[in-house]
Amino acid sequence: MRDLAQDLLLAHQLADVADWISRDRYQSLDLVIETKPDLTPVTDADKAVERKIREVLAAQRPDDLIVGEEFGTPSLDGKNYYWVIDPIDGTKNFLRGIPTWATLIGLCNPEGEVVVGVVSAPALYRRWFAALGHGAYVSENSGEPIQLKVSKVRELKDASLSYSDLVGWGQRREAILLLQERIWRTRGLGDFWSHMLVAEGAVDISVEPTLALWDMAALDIIVREAGGTFTNLDGTPGSHGGNAVASNGLLHHDFLAALNS
Ligand code: IPD
Ligand code: CA
Ligand code: CA
Repeated sequence: MRDLAQDLLLAHQLADVADWISRDRYQSLDLVIETKPDLTPVTDADKAVERKIREVLAAQRPDDLIVGEEFGTPSLDGKNYYWVIDPIDGTKNFLRGIPTWATLIGLCNPEGEVVVGVVSAPALYRRWFAALGHGAYVSENSGEPIQLKVSKVRELKDASLSYSDLVGWGQRREAILLLQERIWRTRGLGDFWSHMLVAEGAVDISVEPTLALWDMAALDIIVREAGGTFTNLDGTPGSHGGNAVASNGLLHHDFLAALNS
């Protein structure tokens, strides 16, 4: 039987180590930036954070598997727990000196459900975290954790929506543009932040058309433990569906119906 409180504690320790590395490299003049085969940038900080997290996990949880953005995905056999790591979410922000970036650490059970998540954004002085059945919390400036609760907004005309940008929407492009007129407020706050603001109740819906498991795993459990809903754009629950909608739950059906109409 897995002790999720212990796993959450370890996830915090991983986030501490990650923060130490990433903060040191943030806005440094000798930051090394390379272009990956998918034409997205990666910095020495992304790689150093993931390497360190893998090293600690290999020592602390030798039986667990590790899925990471920079160093690969093993074959998931359905028998082992696995950690899901995005060493820096918001790399383009990180390398331009915009403080909205974070290390995302998730733990999935063998069936693929995310059971622990930590999102640590040291340049925002904020860390969000959750474990299944234990609630979701945010800690500001390493202060006392505050329990998170999603908003109670019920209608799209009163809702606030956040996304990253207008790229990658494909057939849904027209629908997302039209929705901007039906919704009270839209902002492209971007990356992990859109979704954490849903968990905080500050935003009501967040959406992204193209994502990988490591972009979503940690966010998924935090939104759900705050009382919200996390699915892909087709409405399938969880973070394995290639894209994401997080909401306060009350707006989920209407939003997906409008987006998919
Ligand atoms: C990116 C962010 C962004 C999403 C991109 C991702 P990265 O992650 O999650 O919100 O729109 O598709 O690649 O590359 O900064 O870790
Ligand atoms: Ca990411
Ligand atoms: Ca990343």
